[in-house]
Amino acid sequence: MRRLDQLLANLGYCSRREARDWVAAGRVTVRGEVTDDSGGKVVAGDVRVDGAPLDHPDGLLLLVHKPVGLVCTHEDREGANVYSLLPERWRRRHPTVTSVGRLDKDTSGLLLLTDQSALVHRLTSPKHKVPKVYRATLDRDLSPELVPLFASGQLLLAGESEPCAPATLAILAPRDAAVTLTEGRYHQVRRMFAATGTTVLTLHRSHFGPLELGELAPKSWRELPIDFFERQK
Ligand code: URA
Repeated sequence: MRRLDQLLANLGYCSRREARDWVAAGRVTVRGEVTDDSGGKVVAGDVRVDGAPLDHPDGLLLLVHKPVGLVCTHEDREGANVYSLLPERWRRRHPTVTSVGRLDKDTSGLLLLTDQSALVHRLTSPKHKVPKVYRATLDRDLSPELVPLFASGQLLLAGESEPCAPATLAILAPRDAAVTLTEGRYHQVRRMFAATGTTVLTLHRSHFGPLELGELAPKSWRELPIDFFERQK
């Protein structure tokens, strides 16, 4: 049970003060009856606003095709962000909708967004070794020797003392590769190639754990069941 005004504010409908006005205006029903009690305790499934059930009261889990050019932080000074792709109401929710890990501004592809912080922790923890697949184009021909180097668990990134966990490198064409990582360090794919004297020209994430981006258009998203990852166990 939650306070009605708090519930509406947390789901991004309006401020708590505005919720009082919405209730006073008769816009909110609880179990089919117009309510006049904005502070009353309610079950989300019983509430309607303007006749419609509440918007995702149990949380959001979204698979987004992040385009190049958007950042994953909420900080305005970093430029346009991926949250600008979402409906206004979702951007006002508490807890805040955030990305599961990050893709850098110049990287496109599969990005998960959610308001479930426990899920963010679980999916980003190196302990859980969630595989992420990236497609990279490079500025020079790839040497086959990079395959065992990436797999070795010995590759050191500039400025770090702990080598990268073993990663899978598949050379698909002389300057085209697929890399599978089970960790997610800052700019990791770009820095792994940089450690071998190679510059990544384009980077795209195609898979995250059991999920594949598929044909989803850039800037589009689709909803996943909130218990999607529970069901995978
Ligand atoms: N590696 C990178 O270099 N950038 C990303 O966004 C993700 C992995």
